Amino acid sequence: MSAGLVQAAYIIAALFFILSLAGLSKQESARSGNYYGIAGMTIALIATIFGPESEGLVWIIIAMVIGGGIGIHYAKKVEMTEMPELVAILHSFVGMAAVLVGYNSLLDAPEAATHAEHVIHLVEVYLGVFIGAVTFTGSVVAFGKLSGMISSSPLSLPHKHKLNLAAIVVSLLLMKWYLSTDGGVFPLILMTLIAFAFGYHLVASIGGADMPVVVSMLNSYSGWAAAAAGFMLANDLLIVTGALVGSSGAILSYIMCKAMNRSFISVIAGGFGQEVVISEDVEQGEHRETSAEEVAEMLKNSKSVIITPGYGMAVAQAQYPVHEITEKLRAQGIEVRFGIHPVAGRLPGHMNVLLAEAKVPYDIVLEMDEINDDFTETDTVLVIGANDTVNPAALEDPNSPIAGMPVLEVWDAQNVIVFKRSMNTGYAGVQNPLFFKENTQMLFGDAKESVDAISKAL
Ligand code: TAP
Repeated sequence: MSAGLVQAAYIIAALFFILSLAGLSKQESARSGNYYGIAGMTIALIATIFGPESEGLVWIIIAMVIGGGIGIHYAKKVEMTEMPELVAILHSFVGMAAVLVGYNSLLDAPEAATHAEHVIHLVEVYLGVFIGAVTFTGSVVAFGKLSGMISSSPLSLPHKHKLNLAAIVVSLLLMKWYLSTDGGVFPLILMTLIAFAFGYHLVASIGGADMPVVVSMLNSYSGWAAAAAGFMLANDLLIVTGALVGSSGAILSYIMCKAMNRSFISVIAGGFGQEVVISEDVEQGEHRETSAEEVAEMLKNSKSVIITPGYGMAVAQAQYPVHEITEKLRAQGIEVRFGIHPVAGRLPGHMNVLLAEAKVPYDIVLEMDEINDDFTETDTVLVIGANDTVNPAALEDPNSPIAGMPVLEVWDAQNVIVFKRSMNTGYAGVQNPLFFKENTQMLFGDAKESVDAISKAL
């Protein structure tokens, strides 16, 4: 393949990636967005593998078969609820790749035409390795936290912000040394070790409630790491793709921060939750229990119903019977709508994907902001496996780890039914005063079994 053809293929691939992002921004077009992405990536791979600079075709194909095989195996096996962990570990690979490309590109540097070009290349390597190393350990810690291998509570080392600042300052000083020694490997290795520790500390300091932001932030970092690798390899497509991932990840992180009423800077500086007192042991009062038959009766006597799903619906795979009862109630002229919190579940858009999978019509699935004022005129709310996203403590208790996070104000409805298996807390580890309100009743058991039982009773 000639260099001109490769450039043309890269431009077409970049256009496909942009179309893919545009497609993925709406449920209706998400499938075509995926196809655009696949098409772009196929063109990019063919152009890179058969391009003028490609060497060792056999090795590339062996690596692709092994990597692809492992990827397909895990993608098939992974549960929807484990998706964030998978994404986190994949980000760590991007980070490590940037580190390795950096070292390789230093040891096997391309011929630079001018001194300025040589220095620019050295700086690219340094920054690429730094971003890659931070992304690597940060993503490994995020993987550990999301999979429950590491405690989700924030690590609070003394002077943590000063430690972060020191890591950045020392890295800058090492960069001076590295440049003055014309790309010395020793300062680069020292900086890599510091960046590994920095990435670990950044993510370990972030508490459970802020994990959604961390996942999208690492997504963004992995994009910048890929773009840095693109600069080092002088590969335009990698730069464009990395920048697309980096900036869309940054925009997503910003949207998530807004949804959770967090300051973007504080979250990325690894700050939230340290001075917060977890008020779990506060006496909350009595809760009331109900049965599937009673809930079915209550639903039949309602004019309007809102369902607010959460992580428990995903675990129980209750979206199919939920769709069933929705159809049964709508057939009886009862208005049924869904209220989706931006961080419900464990990944952005988690609930939307599950409901779409069960064929719930999109027009009755509303965002939190669209539906929050309507709870006061709602007869019955079914909280199916949601907990943190319907916790009034976020608005009422300034000491709560989730204080300030906007929540679905379900308690304003006439009746609230909470589907869960026990009185356990949600992801943020905070007790939920909703369960003890007078208009709340608990329906204990696996969400799928409970919804099935209601469907039968209807
Ligand atoms: P959570 O607060 O995580 O609560 C889920 C509830 O579901 C639990 O209290 C659990 O109670 C119940 N549950 C689990 N399995 C169940 C089953 N089989 N049947 C019935 N109930 C079951 O859920 P949420 O309201 O969706 O909030 C999401 C949380 O995850 C937020 O704190 C958010 O910050 C965090 N998070 C979100 C993301 C993204 S991007 N969305 C990423 C990482 C973290 P029992 O054990 O008593 O059944």
